[in-house]
Amino acid sequence: MLNGKRILLIISGGIAAYKALDLIRRLKEQGAGVRCVLSRGGAQFVTPLSVAALSEEAVYQDLFSLKDESEMGHIRLSREADLLVVAPASADLMAKMAAGLADDLASTVLLATDKPVLLAPAMNTRMWEHPATRRNLATLADDGVRTVGPGQGDLACGEVGAGRMAEPMEILAAVQACLGAENSGATLHGRRAIVTSGPTYEAIDPVRYIANRSSGKQGHAIAEAIARLGADTVLVAGPTNLADPVGVETVRVESARQMLAACEQALPADVAICAAAVADWRVDGTAQQKMKKDGSGQPPALALVENPDILASLAHLQDGRPDLVVGFAAETEQVVDYAQAKRARKRCDWIVANDVSDGTGVMGGDDNTVHLVTADAVDSWPTMSKQDVAATLARRIADHFDIS
Ligand code: CTP
Repeated sequence: MLNGKRILLIISGGIAAYKALDLIRRLKEQGAGVRCVLSRGGAQFVTPLSVAALSEEAVYQDLFSLKDESEMGHIRLSREADLLVVAPASADLMAKMAAGLADDLASTVLLATDKPVLLAPAMNTRMWEHPATRRNLATLADDGVRTVGPGQGDLACGEVGAGRMAEPMEILAAVQACLGAENSGATLHGRRAIVTSGPTYEAIDPVRYIANRSSGKQGHAIAEAIARLGADTVLVAGPTNLADPVGVETVRVESARQMLAACEQALPADVAICAAAVADWRVDGTAQQKMKKDGSGQPPALALVENPDILASLAHLQDGRPDLVVGFAAETEQVVDYAQAKRARKRCDWIVANDVSDGTGVMGGDDNTVHLVTADAVDSWPTMSKQDVAATLARRIADHFDIS
């Protein structure tokens, strides 16, 4: 899929540099030519020899190396690629990029390039969440730099949280999305998108709530993919552990009613994608104080009332309905039939239907197998990562607006 594409891979300092070796292999398997810049920090974790052996190219390390400058100047290095990928992208290198510094080969190449840049950040979770890093990311997003990941999980430093570099296959998918988007020419520049993601929490009393197991991974990935294609994107997110996607305005909410209000506030939009697992019911009359056992052994009776349906509300709007309203359907049987019925009932344009029956590992997992159900077709996609589903859906949406 990447035949003839040239990738300049910049490996900066971080334990995740070992994954860059696998990334080189994955890119080359797809037919890409890979040339590498290894920063001084990167060379503490992987050797120039292994990078050269896997990429089958010279490895560039030193800005002031006469040999490199005579054979390949840093300007040429930065321009003779279709895409620059920084994996891992350290907090330090991202700060340099945001500030426009150029004091080593990696930062100089990144400042000199006229090609798209994709970052795969990797760092300790506190560093990732630090206001300085958030500011730098926002600046880089404004500059058109794209990012993939980081994911959540155990970090090499022993802490747990966001900061783990995206897996090589996810980075590969992002590379394909970056280059594919450029090829098809369809972008979402000038379009506005609303994406819902995550679960909702419905309070029982001040300390208890009703919720579900949605991780928000799919919805967040969609918001990021849509923004990467240029859409002005608002993500309305229920409670999740995920970091706010880069380049996206994220509004955090708790309940279904707050989610609906935030979506209405974010209108007008060209496209709405409802990926949230909204709680169907909330408790009628949330207790203002913590409910106490009364000693009788009788549990309290909780009366439930139905929550507003955000997808249906947006799709039924008389005034200001988004041109394209996309819903999700999580089913455990008759996946496509139920999705078609849901599409008609909620009057949305497309439904992304997925099988969440036992054993598929979709809930909370990284992969997804979906069918895109439209008015006149059912498109069944192969099993792919949630990042890939997001990138494919974003491209379909861009193509839709390109044609219509
Ligand atoms: N949805 C919503 N607001 C709700 C409920 C659902 O926006 N209150 C959206 C979801 O974001 C998703 C789609 O509707 O896009 C899912 O519809 P839903 O009827 O909840 O589907 P299931 O959970 O699959 O429900 P059921 O088992 O009743 O078919």
